[in-house]
Amino acid sequence: MRKIFAANWKLHKNPTETRRFFGEFLPRIEGVLDQVVIFPPATSWEACGATLMNRDIQWGAQNVWSQAQGAYTGESSATVLRELGGRWALVGHSERRHLFGENDAWLADKVAFLQSLDLTPVLCIGETLSQREAGKTDQINRDQLRAGLAKADSKKPLVVAYEPVWAIGTGQVATPEQVATAHAFVHRTLVEMGFAQAPILYGGSVKADNASALIKIPHVDGFLVGGASLEVASFEQICRSNAAG
Ligand code: PGA
Repeated sequence: MRKIFAANWKLHKNPTETRRFFGEFLPRIEGVLDQVVIFPPATSWEACGATLMNRDIQWGAQNVWSQAQGAYTGESSATVLRELGGRWALVGHSERRHLFGENDAWLADKVAFLQSLDLTPVLCIGETLSQREAGKTDQINRDQLRAGLAKADSKKPLVVAYEPVWAIGTGQVATPEQVATAHAFVHRTLVEMGFAQAPILYGGSVKADNASALIKIPHVDGFLVGGASLEVASFEQICRSNAAG
């Protein structure tokens, strides 16, 4: 199976910067056989769609609402995403959960709505530091999977991203043992729930210098990368980590 290398740009890169990034990145990424997916901010969707048309690199939304349109001030529509060529969407990134108060019921609806449009949801899960210290890591991951996938279709594409909250944007990457234990647990839980095929990405301070060790861990099917995806050189190296051997 191809690994998935996903770039979460968060609130970075305007349309001009998006085009400039791809001007440099696309020629350098030629020959990479794994799947590369970019998640730009909504204001750069159109630039991303135009630049990546007819390319193997895919892109998606960092967040969409669970309805196509209506009185939902400030939200983005998955049908517009699809119209512009986006094929993926993050659901329940920890910043959405913790800064913007997204709840599990919304996330289940978003996953189902995205799948109904034949878009690929990436359900993000992961424990906070205090939950880990309280020995609740497995329980939190299981609860977030059960809630987020409550309305999901196991026959349609679905990706899960395990991102321990304490490792996101902190430079504090989980140890290979912590990643291995969590991914094995998430995989087992997905098998029990009937989603055995879902790839599991790791996220949280993935960098060019730790990617090639982490990608070898069983059930690490790719990465969701924040900070290190903003620079062409570091993201290119991460996208090559599987081939680096
Ligand atoms: P980071 O972010 O790589 O900067 O830790 C990961 C994420 O938020 O998805």
